[in-house]
Amino acid sequence: MKFFVDTADTNEIRDLAETGLLDGVTTNPSLINKSGRNFLEVVKEICEIVPGPVSAEVVAVDHAEMMREAEILRKIADNITVKVPLTLDGLKTCKALTSDGTMVNVTLCFTANQALLAAKAGATFISPFVGRHDDIGFDGMQIISEIRTIYDNYDFGTQILVASIRHPVHVLQSAMIGADVMTAPPAVIRQLFKHPLTDKGLEAFLSDWQKTGQTIA
Ligand code: G3P
Repeated sequence: MKFFVDTADTNEIRDLAETGLLDGVTTNPSLINKSGRNFLEVVKEICEIVPGPVSAEVVAVDHAEMMREAEILRKIADNITVKVPLTLDGLKTCKALTSDGTMVNVTLCFTANQALLAAKAGATFISPFVGRHDDIGFDGMQIISEIRTIYDNYDFGTQILVASIRHPVHVLQSAMIGADVMTAPPAVIRQLFKHPLTDKGLEAFLSDWQKTGQTIA
């Protein structure tokens, strides 16, 4: 499963990229707002840090204007993935852009039927939001299972990009279901490294090593 980080914080992206774990980055208008930076500038910088797909979202709601924005976005770098909402105009834009060789991430997906539409429109990635489903009392991961089944039934090449991930269990479940990609906030990716027994074990090893009086030289 590919790991994307869901942030526009370039310090976080740089640090996590050094682990070799990062296969891509996703951003959205809320994350750009949180960064306090110029959209085009920050996205360009991210594309230079991570060679994999970097999602940059259009903010227009009609097809013609989405295409105009997409033209600007796709010129930023070769690894730009244009992110469009799962609306009729968004899918028209998806079809036009992917037919032209541009990667497209269809976002704000909340049902398996919507994911079916995105695949038929040629989406490179579909982003079902699991956390926002859980927030309103539904099982977000159930939709990931449904999409996996549908895409496998018809051999769709669209990659399932699990979004709105809130905790490590979402990551585990995504991998168990066979999602292609997960995008998580930096804090959740950092949580994946952590286990109290790892910390405790390391502490004991270091303490015993000190007792040997040796150094590695
Ligand atoms: O980038 C889209 C998605 O990951 C948003 O997550 O936490 O705002 O529901 P969240």
